[in-house]
Amino acid sequence: MNYTEVFKGTAFTSDSSKVVRILTDCLFCIGSDGMIEKIIAPENDEYQALIDIYQGKDNYHCLADGQYFLPGFVDTHVHAPQWAQSGTALDLPLSDWLNTYTFPIESKFSDLHFANEVYEDVVQTLLANGTTTALYFATIHKEASILLAEICAKQGQRGLVGKVVMDDLTQNPSYYRDEDTQTALDETEEFILTVKELSKTTKQGVYPVVTPRFIPSCTDEALKGLGALAAKYDTHIQSHCSESDWAHAFVKERFNKSDAVSLHNFGLLQSKSVMAHCNFLEDEDVELFAETGTAISHCPISNAYFANSVLPVAHFHAKGVDIGLGSDLSGGFSPSMYDNIRQSVMSSRMLEDGVNPALPSTRRGLGHSRITINKAFYFATAGGGESLSLPIGRIEPNYAWDVQVIDTTIKTAKLPIFNDTLHDVFEKIIYQVRPENIREVWVQGQKVHSR
Ligand code: GUN
Ligand code: FE
Repeated sequence: MNYTEVFKGTAFTSDSSKVVRILTDCLFCIGSDGMIEKIIAPENDEYQALIDIYQGKDNYHCLADGQYFLPGFVDTHVHAPQWAQSGTALDLPLSDWLNTYTFPIESKFSDLHFANEVYEDVVQTLLANGTTTALYFATIHKEASILLAEICAKQGQRGLVGKVVMDDLTQNPSYYRDEDTQTALDETEEFILTVKELSKTTKQGVYPVVTPRFIPSCTDEALKGLGALAAKYDTHIQSHCSESDWAHAFVKERFNKSDAVSLHNFGLLQSKSVMAHCNFLEDEDVELFAETGTAISHCPISNAYFANSVLPVAHFHAKGVDIGLGSDLSGGFSPSMYDNIRQSVMSSRMLEDGVNPALPSTRRGLGHSRITINKAFYFATAGGGESLSLPIGRIEPNYAWDVQVIDTTIKTAKLPIFNDTLHDVFEKIIYQVRPENIREVWVQGQKVHSR
């Protein structure tokens, strides 16, 4: 009964993609490694005895009325440098946006002062929005990418960080590309080794991620070499897959194969792979994702802008593909996973089928597309943990104590709660919370944000 921290309160966590479990007024007992050791319900004999031991101590934390625990969110796709341009230039098509806004701003991350300013801010902002784990694209610059991992380590966020590879001299602008293929691979290997060492100094872990930006930016040699590096060091892999009509068609033209099959041929689809967007996967691609354990990062806000598309997420999930949610900063403008949960539900409703029986020409959409708020919450938490193959995203024994403390009573952001059931409180939290309501954020048993 010697716990490092003990918390008392009511928590919401995904039991499955259908069911949100409510843990009413429980004790959450955290070990020295920041993992949840035990959850004790009020009807348990130990309950009062444990309260008697811990009450009044510094490591006993009791929530007030109107406060609740939620798992920390897992953002499975975020471009940290693009925080600097977040909310701008969203009217352009993807390829123009990359060339006229994104590559110029990412090229500035050769300057470590600028990188430091933006990266400190984006990590802090994501934590303040309840994101306890983030899968980041950095830029092509090795030093600045290491700096991002260091900032995650220092601020206490579980950051998975990739040095971006863009080595194709014919496709990438001269001011923003790797020097050559071998340099890109060497720097990726050095990056992996440095971040693995850095991780040992942290409690929550930081992870190097093999990151070909997308097939159009990489040579065959680089793609193959990156698959080999990921296998050699057992790292995560991330990229973009079948995002827009343009990107999807580009790969088809180059390989006469889909994005998914091409990535697989380079050894880039495996259980720790997360592919962003995936709007235009064909049936065999979906099977490949399910067989290899590759996850989709669903980026609903970004998809509305750059893909002009809604991912058929319910269908892909039903086929056994792991799904996480991604903000895709700054293809998506919002750093909040709450906003992305809300958009994923709304987008799915727009994809749902419908017809006016008197007017057959009004037939539209795809049957069984809608997702519930419970499912969207699952994608943002437990589904993200499964996508990354890490014990995170659930409030359950043997999972990390990564949580947000939500205060529904904040004067300037009071939630409309009047005699609600606890499940209604949960839904109101998901739809109504603003950053002001996120009172504390904990990662691996350490407090990393409070207001
Ligand atoms: N495809 C290649 N690079 C990017 C990027 O930075 N953002 C998005 N949304 N798609 C991409
Ligand atoms: Fe992206």
